[in-house]
This record gives sequence, C-alpha cells and structure tokens, in this order.
Amino acid sequence: MNSPRTGSRPLLDLVAGARPNFIKLAPVARALAETGCVELRIVHTGQHYDPNMSDVFFVDLGIPLPDVHLEVGSGSHGVQTARILERYEALLLQRSPVATVVFGDVNSTIACALAATKLGIPVVHVEAGLRSGDRSMPEEINRILTDTIASLLCVSEPSGAAHLRREGVPESRIRLVGNVMVDTLLRELPTARRTQVAGVEALAGRPFGLVTLHRPSNVDRIDVLRPLLAVLVELSRSLPLVFPVHPRTRDMLGRHALDAGLTATGTITLLSALPYHQHLSLMASASLVLTDSGGVQEETAVLGVPCLTLRESTERPITIELGTSRLVGRDPERLRAAFRDVLTGAWPQARPIPLWDGKAAGRIAAALVACLGESPRGPEGSATLPLGGKSADDSG
Ligand code: UD1
Repeated sequence: MNSPRTGSRPLLDLVAGARPNFIKLAPVARALAETGCVELRIVHTGQHYDPNMSDVFFVDLGIPLPDVHLEVGSGSHGVQTARILERYEALLLQRSPVATVVFGDVNSTIACALAATKLGIPVVHVEAGLRSGDRSMPEEINRILTDTIASLLCVSEPSGAAHLRREGVPESRIRLVGNVMVDTLLRELPTARRTQVAGVEALAGRPFGLVTLHRPSNVDRIDVLRPLLAVLVELSRSLPLVFPVHPRTRDMLGRHALDAGLTATGTITLLSALPYHQHLSLMASASLVLTDSGGVQEETAVLGVPCLTLRESTERPITIELGTSRLVGRDPERLRAAFRDVLTGAWPQARPIPLWDGKAAGRIAAALVACLGESPRGPEGSATLPLGGKSADDSG
C-alpha cells in the first residue's frame, strides 16, 4: 500500500455521494482545512448526479470541487454499492489515505467504509449510532454495518451513543460531537432568507406548508403513494402546499400521470428538487413541514417549524423529545389531527438541543487531529490513526 504521506501532511479522504452527504461534508471539510494538519481528498461517488442533487450543493456550500469523481450513477442497491466498492478500492490502491471519513447512511457510506476497512484503512463515521429499529429501511442496514466496522464514531445525539454502547462499541471510539447538518444550516440561514424561490410567487406573504417525500416505503408503490397524495390534496385546501419533488418520486408521478392532477388542484405547487438555499428558505418560512426525510426532521427542530413526519419510526428521537417532529405515518386520521393541532397552535415549542450549536465539525476535526497527534510513526515516518483493528484495550 502506498504511504498516506506524500508531503508533510497526511492524506485524509472525505467521501460523499448523495445530497445529504454534501451538506454534512461541507463544514467538516472547512474545519479540517482550518487545522492545516491534513491534506484533504474529496471523493464524490456519483450516487447523485443531477445538477440540482449534486453540483449545486458544492457551489452553494462553497465545497471545493471533488478531487476524484467515481461516476457510479443509479442502479439497484447491489449494483450501486458494488460499483462504489470496486471504484473506491481502486482509488485506495493508487494512493491510500490515513483514514476515510464517511457521512450518514446512504449506499456510498457503507460501500466506501467497507472498501477502506478491507485495506486496513481506519474509517471515521460522521452521524454514527442512529437506529430506527426498522431493518426494512436500506439506510438502517447501512448504519448498522458502517458502525460495526468504523474506528471512530462521531455521534449527533445521545441516543446514538447509547445504541453504540449497547452494541458493544468501546467507549474510546465514541465521540458525542453534535450535528454537522446544523452547522451548515446556521451558517447558511442568512443567505437562505434572502434567496428567492422561483415558482412560488403566487404564495408571497401567505402561509403555506412544505412537503418532501422520497422514502421508498412511501413512494415506490402506487397503492401506497396514491392515497397519501389524496390526503395531501385534502389538507392543501386549508393550507396551500409547496412540494419540491425528489427524482425518485418524480419518476412515480410521471409514470402514473399524477403530476398534472396535483397541479390542477391549484392548492399544491410542484417544483423540481431544489438547491440548498432555496429549500432552506422555504423550510424556514413554512407554517409546517410534511416529510419523510431524517435531515428535514433535524432542520425543522432547529428552525422551530412544526414537522409532521410521514413515518412510523425515527432514528432521530431527539427531534421528537426536544424538537418539533411528530410521527404521523400515512394514516389520514393522524395526519388530519396533527395538521389541525398545528393550525390551532397546539404544537410544542422547540427547545435547544445540546451540541446542535454550529460547532460540531470543529469537534470532529479536533477529535481527528488528536488521534493523528497520538499516532505512532510508521516505517517511512507515515502517520497512522490509532484506530485500526480492535485492540486489547478495547476489549473491556
Ligand atoms: C438516497 C439515499 C437516502 C437519502 C436520499 C437523499 C440510499 C440507500 N438512499 O436515496 O438515504 O435520504 O438519497 O436524496 O443510499 N436519481 C436521479 N438523479 C440523481 C439521483 C437519483 O434521477 O441525481 C433517481 C434515479 O432514478 C435513481 C433514484 O433517483 O434510481 C433513486 O436514487 P438513489 O441514489 O438510489 O436513492 P435515493 O432515493 O436518492
């Protein structure tokens, strides 16, 4: 394996592939660059590739362009994961980093974690420990597997640390650092508030709700999606809804000719998937949000916007305990009741969430640099993170 050190600084990989990854990578890349201790290599797997799902995030969030693009594109889970695994391994064999940092729970996360681990390269997992308890979610499998092989586990909320302890992860590998998605939100909010969103001019100054929908369990089956949309149409008569459509959902709407019907209601505005600032602008000014996204549950918690979560479980329980999220599933009655509660003001106020303070990436960078500082020098003076395979002191 090549030495991870070419100059004076060790090479560190930051890997991202899907929309939420880019939002999490941005502050971590910035915080690590500020330390001046590592040479960063940003690797884009290409899992997301539409300009509005990818490029626009690099521009909006000031992320340096990827040093490497693996261009894997879409495919079944097996195909996509295997392609990433194969291509990232080839990159690691060309030049090996001192560690690989992966984010969240998407297919790119587990694929790159696996490629690195098999080559003895330590993996740092940002947003470790989250568990929905629902193994039918592809993300839950990705989370469990990534945490099993990661060496340093950076956790966003206390439940994450508790899950890891219960699963036998040694304390020495767990860091409760807070939420990097919130770092990005707090930094970008002033810009977002000044950002205009094309297509919603008719709603200017009027209350509206925001909808996001992309979980396979909600959108991949027409017999599930159709009744859910019917409830949204009904609710939109009391509060107009704005619905930026994820490509997975757009495919379904198009295939079943549902988009024209939704637009014809006059109370639902369909938009394309939105760039970061536009989406945040809508979220921050919405009266409520209906969503099946984990990230949006977190963002609404910080913004204090009521969040009706269209799922039966969440891996982010703090967004219910201290935030603004309520699980409503797809049940029309629960949805109607929650909607009513928001409109009548019977919704809990958000409370501050510990460590969701805009400084999580700084804590991650400090933890990583501390590990590098402790690291023994390899044969060529190369740095290695003391995080590799399970060691004797981890056994307790
Ligand atoms: C992925 C993540 C999910 C995350 C979501 C955020 C996994 C298993 N899922 O789901 O956890 O919440 O990203 O958006 O990794 N497509 C495009 N253009 C793109 C990307 C995708 O048109 O740029 C379409 C393709 O038809 C593709 C489908 O969307 O087949 C799904 O994309 P994929 O990356 O497989 O999963 P997501 O649903 O985006």
